[in-house]
Amino acid sequence: MKSVETFSELRKARNELAEPVGFVPTMGYLHEGHLSLVRQAGQECASVVVSIFVNPTQFAPEEDLESYPRDIDRDTSLLEEEGADLVWIPEDEEIYPEDYQSWVLVEEVTKPLEGAERPTHFKGVTTVVAKLFNAVQPQKAYFGQKDAQQAVVIKQMVRDLNYPLDIVVCPIVREPDGLAMSSRNKYLNKEERKAALSLSEGLFQAKKAFQQGVRDADQLRGIVANRVNEEPLAELQYVSCANPETLKEQAGEIEKGLLSMAVFVGETRLIDNVLLK
Ligand code: PAF
Repeated sequence: MKSVETFSELRKARNELAEPVGFVPTMGYLHEGHLSLVRQAGQECASVVVSIFVNPTQFAPEEDLESYPRDIDRDTSLLEEEGADLVWIPEDEEIYPEDYQSWVLVEEVTKPLEGAERPTHFKGVTTVVAKLFNAVQPQKAYFGQKDAQQAVVIKQMVRDLNYPLDIVVCPIVREPDGLAMSSRNKYLNKEERKAALSLSEGLFQAKKAFQQGVRDADQLRGIVANRVNEEPLAELQYVSCANPETLKEQAGEIEKGLLSMAVFVGETRLIDNVLLK
């Protein structure tokens, strides 16, 4: 596996790869969720490129940019084991040189959910992903369903800006007890780790109710909220039952839905979701 830092090194190494190229953008501190994307890319593409870049522009000033977990040595050896061909680890100045001024904005689908709570987040995500796509020029790019809104936003950007690539969204990878894998799980102490199970448990209870015939959006949101509210260490930020494609909030009887949530467990903000269909 080759490891590069600059745009020019990346372009040179990328041009030597067999096509089609599959691309997995990450912020590092890799877990099984990321590795499942790398594996799927390896099954579907002749070469796999992974980027590791903790993108400062998608963090608000009060968020965890400084403390975001990093372990480049562990990440590169995991990627080597998974058979990735090229890892790109740019410095901040490579992506955002002095006097940087250009941004990619996706409108409607960035407004609700995460966008409502983190108003500058998706501007940073779409801008960096556009820059990464421009440099890597993959035929396929892989994202996790865990960041459900991010996947919808990136698909919209790819459609609107005519990127010649397919977006592949892979299932959420969970710990054996149901907690969705996330680099931020590292922040949780033992008690918080237990309380964090209220996210997946609430979602699974609602999904079961849906499968048994409960169709009312309010009732489904209520099941999730009640489970989280049982945990003194957990504070629900939002629970949503949205249309999975438009992300518009639904009311009354639903046929399908993206049931998603954000919860503070102690200081740690966690998100999770299930698809109802
Ligand atoms: O999902 C992530 O890890 C990040 O948002 C991404 C897509 C790598 C952009 O920084």
